[in-house]
Amino acid sequence: MISSVRGTKDILPAEIPIWLFLESTFREVSTIFGFNEIRLPIFEKTEVFQRSIGENTDVVNKEMYTFSDRGGDSITLRPELTASVMRSVIQNNLLSQSSILRLWYYGPLFRYERPQKGRLRQFHQYGAELIGSMHPESDAEIISLAISIINKLGIKDYYLYLNSIGNNRSRQNYKKALVDYLKSYADKLSKDSQERLLKNPLRILDSKDPQDIEIIKNAPIIYDYFDEESLEHYQLTKELLRLSNIQYIENPFLVRGLDYYSHTVFEFQSPVLGAQDSFGGGGRYNELFREFGYSNDVPATGFALGIERIILILETQNLKIPLEPPKIYIAFNEWKYIYKVIEIAQILRSYGFSTVFDLNRRSLKAQLKEANKLGVKYSIIIGEEEIENNYLSIKCMEDGTQNKFPMDSAIIYLKNTFEK
Ligand code: HAM
Repeated sequence: MISSVRGTKDILPAEIPIWLFLESTFREVSTIFGFNEIRLPIFEKTEVFQRSIGENTDVVNKEMYTFSDRGGDSITLRPELTASVMRSVIQNNLLSQSSILRLWYYGPLFRYERPQKGRLRQFHQYGAELIGSMHPESDAEIISLAISIINKLGIKDYYLYLNSIGNNRSRQNYKKALVDYLKSYADKLSKDSQERLLKNPLRILDSKDPQDIEIIKNAPIIYDYFDEESLEHYQLTKELLRLSNIQYIENPFLVRGLDYYSHTVFEFQSPVLGAQDSFGGGGRYNELFREFGYSNDVPATGFALGIERIILILETQNLKIPLEPPKIYIAFNEWKYIYKVIEIAQILRSYGFSTVFDLNRRSLKAQLKEANKLGVKYSIIIGEEEIENNYLSIKCMEDGTQNKFPMDSAIIYLKNTFEK
């Protein structure tokens, strides 16, 4: 038997209703916030991700699905969508139409990570990018959109962690102080953190290693290295969040796995998820446009939510959305009535009733058994009597009652009962 690739997951019919519920919620809430959908290619030139996400990040270093296509170009399956959005905004000159862009997206992404609960190699994100404002009100707006979606989905057990990693200047000063502090513990740090000390020291703050955590507890705090701009941006962001009644937990050690952030960063975590507890995250990225060679700085902020992790949370809350069965099953006792059955099915479908009938020439009894199994509400029975007298017998599958109707009245009867 050929099985699926490790870290990928089939989304089976029974799971589709919850995906549809999520997708319609994303669309509805994004629209209420004035965001427009953007749909982008599944793969891009590798350079779209390489510099923007950061050469020293895990995503670029270890997790990208990169290959040469038959023309010899280096192609990467998108590991995230912010960089693709930047590429598209610049390429299609979208900023000439509006100085503020409110964009949302939804779709599959690919990272070669070690699969475990809530961590896949093909996973899905909903995300939103608010492009064109440097001001804290846009950070508050994007967080408010995320919270509105989370609340609308009914997610209960979660925390919003908030931090600022300041502007570039403040961050460089802090990095120096952090490296100075960590150097004296270098041999006690985990192997990963020792490597990061040279390449990407801020990420050490995010370590899950218990020994690292002990060392980090007494590390310098980034806010002490903030210049006025960084401080003001962060203070006002927090003030606006409080004004919107958005509860957050400040975490000075929150840094994100992607390199493009400055100022505000945030993450949504849920204790029910176990090790992979972050179901969404984002932040401000003011320098990304320049990384793409764009002539101006374009400040922006955004976030993405992980769909598979949201579904895990909703499952622990016992959210179940059943698959909707077809409404009508047409059962017939002799194959020669198939012409009539197809005609009736066409009429019923034209009125919007989802309708199925037997395709395996089974007995009437077997057909009604299948109708029951499917969970249809009504079966229409076609036999000699019905054909001769030109009427339909409609059987209610719930109580077993059966009534005869000419076609016109049958439609009215079905409409009335399904509308009830
Ligand atoms: P990220 O934190 O890398 O951010 O991913 C966002 C979310 O995607 C995570 O919180 C998680 O729920 C989900 N996720 C990530 N990797 C996996 C995986 N291997 N399996 C399952 N779920 C996963 C970004 O991608 C940024 N582009 C967010 C952003 C938008 N920042 C600014 N704008």
